[in-house]
Amino acid sequence: MRRPLIAGNWKMNNSVEESINLVRDLRDRELSEKVDVLICPPFTSLYAIINEIKNSSIKVGAQNMYYEDKGAFTGEVSPAMLKSIGVEYVIIGHSERRQYFNETDQLINKKLKAALTHGLIPILCVGETLEQREEGMEKETVKAQIVKAFKNIEKAEKVVIAYEPVWAIGTGKVATSEQAEEMSEFIRSIIATIYNSEVADNIIIQYGGSVKSLNISEIMSQPNIDGVLVGGASLNAEEFAKIVNFGEDKKGC
Ligand code: 13P
Repeated sequence: MRRPLIAGNWKMNNSVEESINLVRDLRDRELSEKVDVLICPPFTSLYAIINEIKNSSIKVGAQNMYYEDKGAFTGEVSPAMLKSIGVEYVIIGHSERRQYFNETDQLINKKLKAALTHGLIPILCVGETLEQREEGMEKETVKAQIVKAFKNIEKAEKVVIAYEPVWAIGTGKVATSEQAEEMSEFIRSIIATIYNSEVADNIIIQYGGSVKSLNISEIMSQPNIDGVLVGGASLNAEEFAKIVNFGEDKKGC
């Protein structure tokens, strides 16, 4: 049984004070127990947030990390550092990191390995650009990203995969549920080919890109979609709680 994972990626938003206010607002709401709830604040807020949610079911993830344990890597944060403060998840290879920070599939593969070695649950982001979709290259693109990211990876079933079409991120243009489902099913088939059907059946696949309380139920009704990675809409506690509580009328409102 795959347990739904509803995650908020706060991106580069919120001071420590704003982060604490937002997480308190979220924590004090009634949140569905049928799903795992995860928030990924910026590095500067992680420690404070983990203190705030100690007695709640909310989980915390980082948005990035480096693959080395320690050393002369100015500006980087290691998996061990994240682990030491109680971080459980880490987003790897978000399209914004691929696009603005030139992250390659090879680097992403190293980060994935390091996260698993340190017991962090990686959320591997994959997805095509608008040009790639218009050229009919979306499946080829996503397949290449997955094959390269999973090179020599054991414990693949521990990885969460987030399908985030680049053209749907922050644009208000949500992929149709058919498009998201088709790609998620395809991703599962790639995992079955690389590993086996048991791993493929157990791996969590999220959709990300303009998810809101208005479209969450439709997205989550798809058989191969097990959760969502929410950007903008996760910055508002009321809206994010509605997303978490999809299908449970009135809760979180
Ligand atoms: P939006 O929900 O703002 O489109 O962002 C999606 C995303 O990039 C989550 O990682």
